[in-house]
Amino acid sequence: MTNGLLVLGYESSCDETGVALVLTRGDDLPLLLAHALHSQIEMHQAYGGVVPELASRDHIRRVLPLTQQVLSEAGRVLAEVDVVAFTRGPGLAGALLVGSGVACALAAALRRPVLGVHHLEGHLLSPFLSADPPEFPFVALLVSGGHTQLMRVDGVGRYALLGETIDDAAGEAFDKSAKLLGLPYPGGAALARLAERGNPAAFSLPRPLLRSGNLDFSFAGLKTAVMLQARKLAHGSNCAVEALPADVLADLAAATQAAIVEVLVKKALAALAQTGLGRLVVAGGVGANQKLRVQLGDACARARVRVHYPELQLCTDNGAMIAMAAAMRLQSGAQAASAEYAFDVRPRWPLDDLKIS
Ligand code: KG4
Ligand code: ZN
Repeated sequence: MTNGLLVLGYESSCDETGVALVLTRGDDLPLLLAHALHSQIEMHQAYGGVVPELASRDHIRRVLPLTQQVLSEAGRVLAEVDVVAFTRGPGLAGALLVGSGVACALAAALRRPVLGVHHLEGHLLSPFLSADPPEFPFVALLVSGGHTQLMRVDGVGRYALLGETIDDAAGEAFDKSAKLLGLPYPGGAALARLAERGNPAAFSLPRPLLRSGNLDFSFAGLKTAVMLQARKLAHGSNCAVEALPADVLADLAAATQAAIVEVLVKKALAALAQTGLGRLVVAGGVGANQKLRVQLGDACARARVRVHYPELQLCTDNGAMIAMAAAMRLQSGAQAASAEYAFDVRPRWPLDDLKIS
């Protein structure tokens, strides 16, 4: 049990700089005192995707002002921080190095220990920051820009992989399809907005691996099917895909979203049936998708399964989930903070590698 530990957390794995302060409270869930975020989306939009070098440089610019902001919002000073946490991986190596370098430097100066957090564990535990936190055990559907996984979660650090994508992630399928339709990066939310005005039945798109009998996913073929359909329509109208009539683009967006969501919902329900668990946690950026929330809500109500989500603004990358995951690891005894300031990041790092130490 840890009481009153002030954890400062940094997220810098991709295109968001996140900083947060969390306080441990005995056996109760840690409390989020403040968090601040800077999204680089606008900066990368001109290039149609994340430019790693620009991402690293922007993290450097933002990280200290955001730290000041968080400390002042929480009414704390740096000297009060007990542990400094950072995203150790997976992610862009240069971007990860900024967060880990700053965390290790601050911790060394303060003579405090550091704790490297797995980015996906941050997403996985982010619903514990919500007003309706889950209880262990549960099935987790992790749907981010880089990962699509179903996990069985029995406690902090006790994660078993049930299935995952064999190619593109669900977020990637949203983003790549959005790009094809002429929508700006990162596309997922924009495609969802366009889909609201469309008819999902207007086009029939594949539901990859829906009947594969296992819990794996595949989204690369779907993206190709969207591309072929879009090109066919553009060819027929003798125009570029982006110049297709707005209602046609909306129909295509709606059909794409429906295909992704149907696969995610059916596989999540299959994972619940396979494990016999009655609780589902949805985390990662695609968890913000309203269509997914509605369809999962209906399917889980029928199956008498409770669904938990992070707060909408904490679905995508943020520092709060990293500080929270660190605090929960410390609290549960899954990991001790370390006084070794070797900021070794892990750009590739499977979540089920996390062992209770
Ligand atoms: O978890 P996240 O912030 O970053 C990673 O760790 O990858 O997820 C970002 C992903 C992007 O692919 C983005 O397009 C997607 O989440 N996303 C959405 C929505 N909001 C964000 N996808 C569908 N519908 C949304 N409303
Ligand atoms: Zn993420």
